Order: sequence, then C-alpha cells, then structure tokens
Amino acid sequence: MQVAIFSAKPYDRQFLDAANAAAGGRHHLAYLEARLSPETAVLAQGAGAVCAFVNDQADAAALETFAAAGVRLLALRSAGFNNVDLAAARRLGVTVARVPAYSPESVAEHTVAMILALNRRIHRAYARVREGNFALDGLLGFDLKGRSVGIVGTGRIGAAVARIMLGFSCRVLAHDPYPDPALEALGVTYATVPDLLAASDIVTLHCPLTPGTHHLIDAAAIRHMRRGAMLINTSRGAIVDTRAAIAGLKSGAIGLLGLDVYEEEGDLFFEDLSGQVLQDDVFARLLTFPNVLVTAHQAFFTAEALTAIAETTIANITAFEETGRAVHEVSTEKLA
Ligand code: NAI
Repeated sequence: MQVAIFSAKPYDRQFLDAANAAAGGRHHLAYLEARLSPETAVLAQGAGAVCAFVNDQADAAALETFAAAGVRLLALRSAGFNNVDLAAARRLGVTVARVPAYSPESVAEHTVAMILALNRRIHRAYARVREGNFALDGLLGFDLKGRSVGIVGTGRIGAAVARIMLGFSCRVLAHDPYPDPALEALGVTYATVPDLLAASDIVTLHCPLTPGTHHLIDAAAIRHMRRGAMLINTSRGAIVDTRAAIAGLKSGAIGLLGLDVYEEEGDLFFEDLSGQVLQDDVFARLLTFPNVLVTAHQAFFTAEALTAIAETTIANITAFEETGRAVHEVSTEKLA
C-alpha cells in the first residue's frame, strides 16, 4: 500500500523502513517532512493510507481532503488520538488506527527521570559544575522513601510509574475511573482527585487528554495541592493550564514542575529552533524558572518504543490492506 507519512524525521524513516523490510517490504512509504494540517493534507494524494504523529492535526478539513483523495486509513504512530476528529473520520469512512501499547516503560522511566532530576536539581548541578561552581546552596533535595506520589491515570504508563515508585518505598495514591485491582494488591490506594492532590508530594499525570481532562490541573486544582509539591506532566500538554501553573510557580504553590508536553507544543517541539527568536511568551516564561524542567516530548524516545511503534504501525497497515480492518482501530465507542 502507498503510505504518506507526515512529520517524518530521520529516526521515523530508520525504524519504519526496518519494520517494512521485516514485513517483506510490501508497502511503499513516502516520507513527508510537513506536519499534517488542512493545508498539507493534499500531499497524501495517491496514498491509500496516511501515517501521522502527535502534533499532526487530523481535523475535519484534513480528513475531508483525505477522503476525497481516496485515503481510507489514518495510522497513528502514537497511543493518544486527541488530535483526530473521530466523528469526522467516522462520517467520512476513514478508519483510524493507533499504537495502543509501545513500551509503557519508555514514558514511565522518563517520568521518573524527571522526578529524580528535579528533586536533586541535576539540571542545575550539571550547569554549575561546568562553570566551576561547586557550591551546593539551592540544590537541596528530599528522600523519596516515604513520600507520597499521586498518579492520575493508572493505565499502562501510570501502572508502570506506580510499580517503579513503590520500588523507591513511596506511598502511592492514584485516581482512575477504573481502579486496577493488581495495583491495589501492591499497595496503591485509590482516591478522588482533590484527596490525591491534597495528600501528594509529587503529582504525575498519565490520563489521556479528553474534554473531561482538559485543564484538569487548573488554578483550583493547584490550590488543592500540597504547597511546594512537584507536578509532572508527560501525558498531554492541555491537561495542565499553563498560565495557572506559572501563577502557581510564582506563588510557591508548585515547588517543582516537570513537563515533557506543553499545550502549545505543536509550533515548537520536534524542531531545531535554536537560531530563531522564541515567539511563545508563556513558554518563554516557563523556561525562566530554576525549578522547571522541560523536555520536548521525548518520553517515548527509546529504541524499544520506536521499534514497537514501527512494527505495530506496519501491522495496522498490512491488516487493513488484507482485511479492511486494522489491528488496533480507535473504537468509535471512544466518541462517547
Ligand atoms: P492507557 O489508555 O493505558 O491509560 C490511560 C488511563 O487513564 C486509563 O486507565 C483510563 O481509565 C485513565 N483515565 C481516563 N480518564 C481519566 C481521568 N479523568 N482521570 C484519571 N484517569 C483517567 O494509556 P497509556 O498508554 O497509559 O498512556 C497515557 C497517556 O500518556 C496517553 O493518553 C498519551 O496522552 C500519553 N503519552 C505520552 C507520551 C510521551 O512521549 N510523552 C507517549 C505515550 C503516551
């Protein structure tokens, strides 16, 4: 099948070519550097399937262009699908497939890397030592042992974070509409969001972005948090109201903030903009805080995850070509 691959980076090419070769090289993969938008959707002309990533915007206009061009499958190289207008896809007969589980540990371990780095101020220590400054003032951390970690969303990634933090002898609280009995058996305690926020030294977000979780962490939620607590978001940017987080940092309500995602990341992340003037004043403000650590949506970025993403994506496309059904279709029930 001819596949138009949007937002293609050299690493996408490397892993997708390998997975396609392992599957007999049956698909023709056309790599496009462009991000998917209503304007660029036309580049998929002639393709039977489109492959897109997290900051590609598969809105109704883009999907209409696909449908008119004969595209029947949108194969996401991601777990999240908040960037797809599912109602439009269903109306237009475009099947949406995703990669539901590719190394949850990749994201969970990055989350823990952020917790450790922020707590022990590794980002500051690294810069200081290189400048010949070996003073410790301002680098004071805390023992993780015995601290409370609140996990919002205990699906694959949140569960992996819970297991790691239990290994640090943390008390693990969680909130999820569907509590996981296996985690409860390990000692995880489920609570409401306000109770979790009030009791946690570290809050980490692992729920999907939906209308219900948009700005889940807003000014009111920040007021519920323990003063000076750490907040980590490696899920989707818009789960946190960035302006409220900045206000929380300024007042000291939030003591440490780790972000791998940002609500307006689409214009920034995955690109080298080091030669340009940063136009996003909210993001620029975030970067001024010594107690904020930002990574550019790299939590998934391990060899194991990229291999799994590529293999599942190729399997989705192959199954769709052979049977008209992808292996991991985004269920239309999720529309509810
Ligand atoms: P999952 O589907 O296995 O788990 C999501 C969990 O969130 C489910 O247990 C669900 O019941 C729960 N949930 C839904 N609404 C909730 C709410 N209002 N409050 C609390 N929990 C709620 O998904 P998985 O694989 O664990 O991924 C989680 C999210 O992580 C994805 O939706 C995606 O946005 C993000 N992600 C980020 C990556 C990165 O590189 N930074 C990479 C992969 C995923």
